[in-house]
Amino acid sequence: MEMGRPLCCLTAFYFLLTLFSFDTEAGIVGVNYGMVGNNLPPPSQVVALLKSRSITRLHLFFPNHDALQALQNSGIEVILGTLNQDLQSLGSDPSFAKSWVNTNLVPYSKTIRFRCISAGNEVIPGDLAAYVFPAMENLKAALNAAEQQLAYNIPVSTSMSTSILGLSYPPSRGEFSGDVISVMRSIAGFLAANGSPLLVNVYPYFAYVSNQKQIPLSYALFNGTNVVVKDGELEYRNLFDAMTDAVYSALEKVGGASVRIVVSESGWPSKDENGGAASIANARMYNNNLIAHVSGASGTPRRPGNSTESYVFAIFNENLKPPGTEQNFGLFYPNMTEVYPIDFAY
Ligand SMILES: *[C@@H]1O[C@H](CO)[C@@H](O)[C@H](O)[C@H]1NC(C)=O
Ligand SMILES: *[C@@H]1O[C@H](CO)[C@@H](O)[C@H](O)[C@H]1NC(C)=O
Ligand SMILES: *[C@@H]1O[C@H](CO)[C@@H](O)[C@H](O)[C@H]1NC(C)=O
Repeated sequence: MEMGRPLCCLTAFYFLLTLFSFDTEAGIVGVNYGMVGNNLPPPSQVVALLKSRSITRLHLFFPNHDALQALQNSGIEVILGTLNQDLQSLGSDPSFAKSWVNTNLVPYSKTIRFRCISAGNEVIPGDLAAYVFPAMENLKAALNAAEQQLAYNIPVSTSMSTSILGLSYPPSRGEFSGDVISVMRSIAGFLAANGSPLLVNVYPYFAYVSNQKQIPLSYALFNGTNVVVKDGELEYRNLFDAMTDAVYSALEKVGGASVRIVVSESGWPSKDENGGAASIANARMYNNNLIAHVSGASGTPRRPGNSTESYVFAIFNENLKPPGTEQNFGLFYPNMTEVYPIDFAY
């Protein structure tokens, strides 16, 4: 009993510390560090670029040790993903999860602040979906086991696209589709019990291009002032909030009403082959407005008052992605010149 008490107080202290920092810093915006290119600058130059642009948050898709080393003592906080191909081992083998934590977190936790671990990216629905929840549990257990070697508590989550929704319009009717609902119920329960956020990739661009007749471009680009969707008492002036609130509604229906959403990816491509919705003007408008919107404290109509922590996709144009729009989501060219002016300093 006597020996248990200080540990328990320490845990409660870190828990409060985590809650506190999430609440007060939630408006800060980050970027995604995609690495699917053969002409990208070394991580040390990338970290210097981020610092010069006041970018203090990063989503790293997998534990790249060159990047982690460059990030040490940079002050940049990190969401760290696991490779999707590791999910099966993470979910079925607790010792694999332990070694993942010992290799990728323990050596860095004193010099990098990890905001969160993401067990896989956009694998629900799909063959790997069943491994996500067990992987989260095994990672959580591994983090608990390594508590003495870690400087603070690191939440465990997973990252998903909005294609998990069966219904998304109007936002209050948002619900998960039938094929993912049981997985999402387990994940929502885990996140609610641990006070961890759900990571969601929210792309108004893709919603807009698939439904241009009905969605006004200014609603997708945050540059209209009209109420476009009235949903009961709630009024929507931008598609980003509407898509995010549809996921909040879906979470409420599976016991995740208390779970906060972090937007792990959002962005707009600057070029495509058809010269349509993807343009430098539209990408510049979307990304600058996104940063201004989530840097304020307004939140979404369904969750007012808490701004949405968000990560712009992506730092660079990535030349090994599929040709077309996919290669042109970058804020910067690989030579580190900006594709269009972008302002992170709020
Ligand atoms: C919104 O921004 C786009 C891109 O710059 C521009 O083409 C459009 O005219 C703007 N719409 C409004 C309503 O200002
Ligand atoms: C903001 O989020 C915190 C923690 O998730 C919650 O307790 C609080 O009620 C929220 N504030 C508002 C104004 O919604
Ligand atoms: C950087 O790359 C872009 C795209 O290839 C090019 O337009 C620009 O001139 C380059 N800037 C410098 C300084 O080399």
